[in-house]
Amino acid sequence: MPLNPAALDAYWMPFTANRQFKKAPRLLTGADGMYFRDDRDRQVLDGIAGLWCVNAGHNRPHIVQAIQAQAAELDFAPPFQMAHPKAFELAEQLVQLTPAGLNKVFFTNSGSESVDTALKMAIAYHRVRGEGSRTRLIGRERGYHGVNFGGISVGGMVANRKMFGTMLGGVDHIRHTHDPARNAYSMGQPAHGAELADDLERLVALHDASTIAAVIVEPIAGSTGVLIPPQGYLQRLREICDKHGILLIFDEVITGFGRTGNPFGAQTFGVTPDLMTVAKGLTNGCVPMGAVFAQQKIYDTFMSGPEHLIEFFHGYTYSAHPLACAAALGTLKTYAEEGLLTRASAMQSQFAEALHSLKGEPHVIDIRNMGLVGGIELAPLPGEPAKRAFNVFLDCWEQGVLIRTTGDTIALSPPLIIESSQIDRLIDTIRTALRRVA
Ligand SMILES: Cc1ncc(COP(=O)(O)O)c(C=O)c1O
Repeated sequence: MPLNPAALDAYWMPFTANRQFKKAPRLLTGADGMYFRDDRDRQVLDGIAGLWCVNAGHNRPHIVQAIQAQAAELDFAPPFQMAHPKAFELAEQLVQLTPAGLNKVFFTNSGSESVDTALKMAIAYHRVRGEGSRTRLIGRERGYHGVNFGGISVGGMVANRKMFGTMLGGVDHIRHTHDPARNAYSMGQPAHGAELADDLERLVALHDASTIAAVIVEPIAGSTGVLIPPQGYLQRLREICDKHGILLIFDEVITGFGRTGNPFGAQTFGVTPDLMTVAKGLTNGCVPMGAVFAQQKIYDTFMSGPEHLIEFFHGYTYSAHPLACAAALGTLKTYAEEGLLTRASAMQSQFAEALHSLKGEPHVIDIRNMGLVGGIELAPLPGEPAKRAFNVFLDCWEQGVLIRTTGDTIALSPPLIIESSQIDRLIDTIRTALRRVA
């Protein structure tokens, strides 16, 4: 039953044009596999895995059953000075999937919390090892690291920053890697731009390495329009970090859990960070949960004081929540049984081909892809940035397909279970929309 407009009044919706939405609500009431159901009882193809998170598709039995059983068995266990077995079981399973060396896991409840946790870990790590002057954090222009103060400070999305004052002090940013003049319509990693990593040397020269704790980047910048790292760029960043004793943090909140064809982007790109943040696909989006993976050396550094004292003064009431751990274990089981953490590598050429077939359609100025991530950049409507892409979003919604737009880029990240015919439907729907929107 559609809700009446008065029933929509109280809820202040996040990252939403509230007034526009409440005039013409888009309400989801159910989901299964590749599809949502809406309040008009339509099937809606999910082109974005919910919000880059439902990697195994919706309503998966192992996950549903795990959550139901857990709720009846142990609803909550305090995570400070106490624990429950599934937290350890989950951590053990997770570190089997990570790049070698990233074998410690700290649990959070979201990507934003994972980012702030990793930033605090980096600063505290240097302090514990006797280099307390290393407090500066370096992000990247056009980065998105969630919405908490640490994350927006190192982030580089103007709209997410400009309303919130001065944020954290002691933060700087390297240049972004978006270079359509040289790289437009690249298939996979663009050829040009490895040298943009050298911008970190500029900041080292400006601030001195002895003041810098960490650099944080997304292997693929998702929320600012699917920016794929140029070939050699992440390797170069790693080398510069090593040269100067700076920790490298990968924010894998969207690239984690199979999106690029391997469990993590770090493996796809062949670069191992010191800290790695995840969320979203960790529980298939079913229960909020995030995590930070840390190198053994970082954990060991913290384990140096008297044994009876807390080593890291940080954590959340809901860290390693039993429901989230159960959901994550059910998720990992589903990923393993169906080979989903590598399925994107099998599907990526077909996905890329379909995506790039939109070249030449109205308004399209660039197409970017990697694994099962796609970006289609549109020329903005004059004087109305983001509106054209939003119109495409609305048109697709009316056609029964859910996509996502960020600025004037359409960002696609379908569940990893997507089939060929559904890739075709997704792309054809966008094609139809492009041909008729203003
Ligand atoms: C790279 C990255 N980091 C952090 C976040 C924030 O995650 P959350 O919304 O779970 O706080 C996101 C969300 O999209 C993200 O894409």
